[in-house]
Amino acid sequence: MAVEFTYNLEAMLNQENLQTLEYTPEVARATSSIYERVRNIIPEIEWPVHAPDIARINELKRERNAIILAHNYQTPEIFHGVADLVGDSLALARMAADAEADVIVLCGVHFMAETAKLLNPDKTVLIPDLQAGCSLAESITGADVRLLRERYPGVPVVTYVNTSAEVKAESDICCTSANAVEVVESMGTDRVIFLPDEYLGQWVAKQTKVQIILWKGHCEVHERFTGEELRNYRKGFDDVQILAHPECPPDVLKEADFVGSTSGMIKHLDKTRPARVVMITECSMSDNVAVEFPQIEFVRPCNLCPHMKRITLPKILHSLEAMEFKVEVDAAVAERARRAVERMLAIRRDKNN
Ligand code: 13P
Ligand code: SF4
Repeated sequence: MAVEFTYNLEAMLNQENLQTLEYTPEVARATSSIYERVRNIIPEIEWPVHAPDIARINELKRERNAIILAHNYQTPEIFHGVADLVGDSLALARMAADAEADVIVLCGVHFMAETAKLLNPDKTVLIPDLQAGCSLAESITGADVRLLRERYPGVPVVTYVNTSAEVKAESDICCTSANAVEVVESMGTDRVIFLPDEYLGQWVAKQTKVQIILWKGHCEVHERFTGEELRNYRKGFDDVQILAHPECPPDVLKEADFVGSTSGMIKHLDKTRPARVVMITECSMSDNVAVEFPQIEFVRPCNLCPHMKRITLPKILHSLEAMEFKVEVDAAVAERARRAVERMLAIRRDKNN
C-alpha cells in the first residue's frame, strides 16, 4: 500500500485506557469563558466531563506549538472547546497550507489529515484516531483511476478531496463541494471524469455544459436522506428553510432551498438569517452553528458520521501527549497528490459556497 499511517498496536490498545482528569476549581476557571459560549448546546451537568480535557489540551497545544484544525462535523466540545481553526474541507486544506505551527492535529477524517500532510511534508500531522475513515474515500482506488484513464484516454480526472492520497496522485486536480463546478470548468474540456461521489457529480452536471463521467461512490451519511423526509419537514414546520449538502441524492437536492458545502451553508445562514432552518447534513453541524446564530431555530435531523465521531476529547489529549498518530505519505505518491491539491488551491475561492 502506497499510503500508510505510522502507528503501533500497543499504542492503539492504550487508547482504550485513556486517562481521566479531575474537574478542579482551576479547570472550572480556565474553561468558564468557553462554557459561556456553548451553554445553550452543552448541558451544565456535562461540562465537568469535558472541561478537564479541554483545559489540558489547550495547555499542551502551547507546549508543543500545535494547532488543532477541526471539521464542521466535530462535536461542539471539540469545535468550540479546543479547535483553533474550523471549516469545510476546502477551508481546512487552505488553513493547513498556511499553518505555521510545528504540529497540526487534524480533528476530522483521515483524508483530511492526509491533505494537511501533503501540504506540510515537513510538519508533524497527527490524527487522534486512525480508523476515522470515509465511505467515499473507500469507494475507489488508484488502480480504478488508472483503468478509467485507459477507458477515456485524454479526459481529465477531477477528484473530490474525499479520497486517499493514492487516488489523488492519479488525478489531474482535486475539488471540494465548495468549488466543484469551478474546478470542472477550469479544465477547459468538453468532458471530465468526476470521482468518486456520484451525487455531487450529478449536482455539478446540472450547473455546467461540461459532460461529467461519474463513479458510483456515495457518502453513507448523506445517502440516507430522502426527498420524502424533506417534504415532511416542510409540512411539519412552517416557513422552514431547507439547506442540503450536495452529497445527498438528487431527489433530496430537488426539495432543498439551498445546496452547498458545510461552510457554504453557514455563509448562506449568515446572509439570509431565516427564522427556522433544517440542515440536511451531519448531526453536529446544527449544534456548532447554533452557537453563532442563537436567534435561528434549528430543526435537527440526526444522521451521524461514525468516522467523524471517532474523534473525541480524550483521544485528542492522548494524541498530543504521545504525539500519535503521525500521518505519513509515501514521498513519490505525495509529490503527485500534492500537485492535484495545489492546482485546486490555485483556483480563486468561490464566492457563494
Ligand atoms: P465539506 O467539504 O462540505 O465540509 O464536506 C466534507 C464532508 O465530508 C461532507 O460529508
Ligand atoms: Fe465521509 Fe460522509 Fe463521513 Fe463526510 S460525512 S466523512 S463524506 S462518510
